[in-house]
Amino acid sequence: MARIGILTSGGDCPGLNAVIRACVLRGIRGHKDEFLGLLDGWRGVVEQNAIELDWKSVRGIAKLGGTILGTSRTSPFDDGGTVQKVVASLRSMRLDALIVIGGEGTLTVAKMLSDEGVRIIGVPKTVDNDISATDYTFGFDTAVEIATEAIDRLKTTGESHHRCMIAEVMGRHVGWIALHAGMATSAHAILIPEQNATIDEICDWVGKPFQRGRPPLIVVAEGFVPEGMTRAHSARGLDAFSRPRLGGIGEFLAPTIEERTGIETRSTTLGHIQRGGVPSASDRVLATRLGMAAVDAAHDEDWGQMVAVRSTEIVRVDLSEAIGQLKTVPQSRYDEALTLFG
Ligand code: F6P
Repeated sequence: MARIGILTSGGDCPGLNAVIRACVLRGIRGHKDEFLGLLDGWRGVVEQNAIELDWKSVRGIAKLGGTILGTSRTSPFDDGGTVQKVVASLRSMRLDALIVIGGEGTLTVAKMLSDEGVRIIGVPKTVDNDISATDYTFGFDTAVEIATEAIDRLKTTGESHHRCMIAEVMGRHVGWIALHAGMATSAHAILIPEQNATIDEICDWVGKPFQRGRPPLIVVAEGFVPEGMTRAHSARGLDAFSRPRLGGIGEFLAPTIEERTGIETRSTTLGHIQRGGVPSASDRVLATRLGMAAVDAAHDEDWGQMVAVRSTEIVRVDLSEAIGQLKTVPQSRYDEALTLFG
């Protein structure tokens, strides 16, 4: 029996509630655990703001988007925070261990605390699917489905008006959503942060289908950096982690493409729609398996580990394997898609 804290931190994604439910049910049934849900990520630890999570509080939540615990991009080291303060907070809430559900930034903080002796198990999450050491993160499948459905809709209006349509999807550092949604919708170009493309190349990929009587479709990740630019397009300041808020590269490209090709061009930014709403069945299953595995790892006292999926198996990896290096789209996957551009 243990008293375990759970927190969700960083950008939300569909499947977080399924993890929370699975942790609580597995812990109560298998180990007679008690759970405390820390509210709004690390802020809940610092401010000791938490709710008891019992059987009833997780009833029916696996299918809900977002997170019942709230999230934030707060770090426990903001505003003079220290490891000692975190340890004191956890002790005062009588917590034996912490399950931390988050992306690369959150897991980096988890690793720092774990190195100082805090008993932590990590669970990877992000729609971007950019965490190393796991084949997939939950949220990604749902985001790809949402993007695919939206792009299918853009294609029909593009076809009616004989326009070039640009769909901008999420993907700060990596282009997994763009690659998958672009391939699923037979895009004529997929532009991702990992790969350069010149304006001439993009216009060529637009012009060819147009000449065949097809409405050109471009899927671009928000982090794509076109020729002549040194960093991703950002016109909306910085976020809480002092990272540029991305979004708008599609709108930036549209007039250039229209001017160079003479083809009327429209851009749509899907933005946070990709992170909202109900998780796909596949994401619910992955999230549930990871949640149960996280509790089991805590009972094995396998501190400093992250639960992950490799092929169809749930495994444990050291948190250090999950951070530091992002899981980018390999050259071979891009080259495979490239053969169908234009
Ligand atoms: O990290 C996931 C992500 O959705 C990125 O693709 C995007 O750049 C960022 O979060 C947006 O963050 P926020 O919700 O803080 O605007």
